[in-house]
Amino acid sequence: MRVFSGIRPSGDLHLGNYLGAIRQWLQLQEKEECLFCIVDLHAITTPYEPKKLQEQIKKTAIAYLAAGLNPEKSVIFIQSKIPEHTELAWILGTITPLGDLKRMTQFKEKSKKYPKAINAGLLNYPILMAADILLYLAEIVPVGRDQEQHVELAREIARKFNLRFGKTFPEPKALINEKAEKIMSLQEPTKKMSKTDNHLSFLGLFDSEDLIKEKIFRAVTDSGSQIAFDPKRKPGLSNLLNIYSIFSDLPIKKVEEKFRGKGYFDFKKSLANLLIEKLKPFRQKQKEYAKRTVFIEEILEKGRKKAQLISQQTMTLVRKKIGLSI
Ligand code: TYM
Repeated sequence: MRVFSGIRPSGDLHLGNYLGAIRQWLQLQEKEECLFCIVDLHAITTPYEPKKLQEQIKKTAIAYLAAGLNPEKSVIFIQSKIPEHTELAWILGTITPLGDLKRMTQFKEKSKKYPKAINAGLLNYPILMAADILLYLAEIVPVGRDQEQHVELAREIARKFNLRFGKTFPEPKALINEKAEKIMSLQEPTKKMSKTDNHLSFLGLFDSEDLIKEKIFRAVTDSGSQIAFDPKRKPGLSNLLNIYSIFSDLPIKKVEEKFRGKGYFDFKKSLANLLIEKLKPFRQKQKEYAKRTVFIEEILEKGRKKAQLISQQTMTLVRKKIGLSI
């Protein structure tokens, strides 16, 4: 089965990206044919700094490797290096109802967040995402819960295309890790953790020990003193408990037991130490890869070549099916 997923190079990767998406990628690369993309064309739909984009792309590639992606097993590449993504996106746009795009939750949220920058790219974002997936005839799309709606739309677009022009694409499915489907912000725990929010609200995968301590101690917790999992009444604490449970490999009940009779301070101290220890290998690998610029460029170029082969084949077929070539 072919797997496709991607991350926008629009900031430091955080625990949400890692737990919601990348951890699934690591398992999948062991048994499936995987393509993991750095989706720079999606990153430019919200305000960004052009001079910093190349640096961000490089940092994301380093993060993929430091988090454990193996370039011998997975194809790692940059979206904008393959022009077929935008060509297919244009074509798919002609069969996507405008109403479907307008009802997308992410479009509504981003429009609210950037009221002065509601551009057509933001609206068409899910079409490009559908093109990313369908171009490689991918069947499985490992993502966090927030991207499920977009993958569903990609599925509908595939179905529509197949009905109109004959069977061409498999209908892709989102693969979501229930336990880490939505890691919440450390500052506003009813919102998802996001790389474009205030830096205290997300825990970067490569944050220093001091920063991890600071962010965990300053994380918003709820009134009361008991360490109990209750996402409705104690969203802040429950998010931290969930993160503790994932990194310690202990069920949440066991974590609650471990801290019975203890207060928030003890719990946060223990969580900060756990994260410092578990994220240490990531920090070390990131430092090593950051020095190997040529190696990183070679991996991305090798990835580009492999992705190009598949995407050209698909587009030859698509152009024929829709009457743009014979
Ligand atoms: P992006 O860059 O916002 O996020 C990358 C991945 O991380 C997941 N994620 C989370 N999971 C759990 N908790 C969170 N707080 C959290 N925040 C982010 C996202 O669900 C995602 O899996 N549109 C996509 C990128 C994309 C893509 C694609 C993905 C473009 N083309 C094709 C899959 C297939 C995005 O913005 O992800």
